[in-house]
Amino acid sequence: MDKELIGVIQGSIKVVSVQNHDLVKVGYVLGLRVASNHRRKGIGSSLVRRLEEWFRSNEVDYAYMATEKANHASVSLFMDKFGYTKFRTPAILVNPVNHHCFRISSSIEITRLKVEEAESLYRRFMGCSDFFPDDIDRILRNKLSLGTWVAYYKGDSSWGDFGNGEVPSNWAMLSVWNSGEIFKLRLGKATLSCLLYTKSWSLIDRVFPCLKLPTLPDFLNPFGFYFMYGVCHEGPFSGRLVRGLCEFVHNMAAKCEDRENIKIVVTEIGGRDELKHHIPHWKLLSSLDDLWCIKALKNEGANRFSEFTKTPPSTPLFVDPREV
Ligand SMILES: CC(C)(COP(=O)(O)OP(=O)(O)OC[C@H]1O[C@@H](n2cnc3c(N)ncnc32)[C@H](O)[C@@H]1OP(=O)(O)O)[C@@H](O)C(=O)NCCC(=O)NCCS
Repeated sequence: MDKELIGVIQGSIKVVSVQNHDLVKVGYVLGLRVASNHRRKGIGSSLVRRLEEWFRSNEVDYAYMATEKANHASVSLFMDKFGYTKFRTPAILVNPVNHHCFRISSSIEITRLKVEEAESLYRRFMGCSDFFPDDIDRILRNKLSLGTWVAYYKGDSSWGDFGNGEVPSNWAMLSVWNSGEIFKLRLGKATLSCLLYTKSWSLIDRVFPCLKLPTLPDFLNPFGFYFMYGVCHEGPFSGRLVRGLCEFVHNMAAKCEDRENIKIVVTEIGGRDELKHHIPHWKLLSSLDDLWCIKALKNEGANRFSEFTKTPPSTPLFVDPREV
């Protein structure tokens, strides 16, 4: 309006698998924002309506979006006004990056996979996860994707040749996305107690570095983060391997060229996923209140839609790093 940007919305379309490998076309709504002095004038609704029209013209079966449960404006706009229905409540797990590196257990071997190897393992082991993207190869080849690593126990007698698609009895895998390359975050306001906490712990750490205290980074200046995606594991003792991989990613962030900027490592997993017990995170920084809502855009999708929203998830959730 008069050369002032007053509202923005983004959307992406892709093919994903749902409910054990059926492929559907989905449209993701993200980045909806209206300038605060222009809210409640119908601009947000117009943007959503136009994006849905674009989805429909591209034969999209379902539109979906994510928000925080406590964001009443957004929940009300999507659920009450546009008829979206809640279908997942994933957890966002956040771990601060410290300059003290983790010592990874010497019994764990960590190896980087080639893109083709990673793609083949993902299709085989995560292909049935909800929202697994059919273009996983494009994600893995994207310049923001820093690589895929697998972990297994040294000397595992059931050793697998990952390159040929063989896996040991216990193994874990994840990929890393450098979100800091495209946008930075910054804490707008910090409470006095948060400031005091940050300052006092970093002071103690400077005086007693031998204690290797986990300090809270400075979030008041812009910072980037690594996003771990495609976390998967198999085997009764694979939880430790997941932890080992997460520690490896933390160390990678602590040692990277951009280490002043990468201040947190983040991942998002299904709310009921027991993976969260193996992924190091600070409760203080994490959120268990993410809310994903969905809407069928075609009549034929309506039956499947009620299954989506009424049955509890039976497969893990794949969170696409492009939508973070
Ligand atoms: C959410 C947001 C985009 C809404 O934009 P908007 O232009 O004010 O929305 P509209 O005027 O089209 O409102 C449409 C409906 O949304 C709901 N709504 C919007 N603001 C609301 C609020 N503050 N409280 C409760 N409901 C609200 C109402 O149902 C409203 O319908 P009504 O006006 O008939 O009651 C805007 O508040 C915003 O930019 N918030 C910050 C960023 C954000 O949270 N984005 C959403 C991320 S998914």
